[in-house]
Amino acid sequence: MRRKLAAGNWKMNGLPSDLSEVSELQTAAQGDAEVLICPPATLLTSASAQAGKIALGGQDCHGESSGAHTGDISADMLKSAGATYVILGHSERRADHGETDARIADKTRAAWTAGLTAIVCVGETLDDRESGATLDIVGTQLAGSLPDGASAQNTVLAYEPVWAIGTGKVPTTAQIGEVHDFIRQSLITRFGNDTGSMIRILYGGSVKASNAKEIFAVKDVDGALVGGASLKAADFAPIVAALNAA
Ligand code: PGA
Repeated sequence: MRRKLAAGNWKMNGLPSDLSEVSELQTAAQGDAEVLICPPATLLTSASAQAGKIALGGQDCHGESSGAHTGDISADMLKSAGATYVILGHSERRADHGETDARIADKTRAAWTAGLTAIVCVGETLDDRESGATLDIVGTQLAGSLPDGASAQNTVLAYEPVWAIGTGKVPTTAQIGEVHDFIRQSLITRFGNDTGSMIRILYGGSVKASNAKEIFAVKDVDGALVGGASLKAADFAPIVAALNAA
């Protein structure tokens, strides 16, 4: 059985006063589904004091463990601040910082070395989808961003169509199902049935309380990576509840 995961990505949002949202999620986090919040790195240490059953994660890490990399953060630093997860290869990082699949693979290896679970993100643009290239793009990103050595413990995949992030546009359940099935089969082919069938696959992109139930009913959707609707406990708790009920 794959444990369901509701992951909140706060992106570049959150000041110390927002940590009350983490405390308010405690009740929602008592169910079977794992609840994860990825706040900005500045809040990790103080969030860990009130996280309780909620896991914490970073939103990026460098591919090296230390050195002359101004402004970057290492996987060990995230770990020492209370993180057990790190989001890698988010489309906003790919777009804003030119992150390539090879660089994301380096970051993933660094995360594993530090003992973090990497949430590796893949997803097509609207142009990719309209030209029928979705599975090609997702397959290429998956092959290039995910190093050998992935396991159900050290890796979670997140399928996030770029055109669905922060837009309110959500793929049909058939479209989500097609990509999740493709990712599942790719993982099994590459890592074998035992590992490939146990790595969790999240859907991300405009997940809200109002659409969570139908998304969580799709085969091979093991949870969600949620941006905007994770910032307030009042919005995120019903999504966690829908995942627990799925
Ligand atoms: P969104 O973001 O839920 O605001 O669309 C999802 C993400 O980028 O992980």
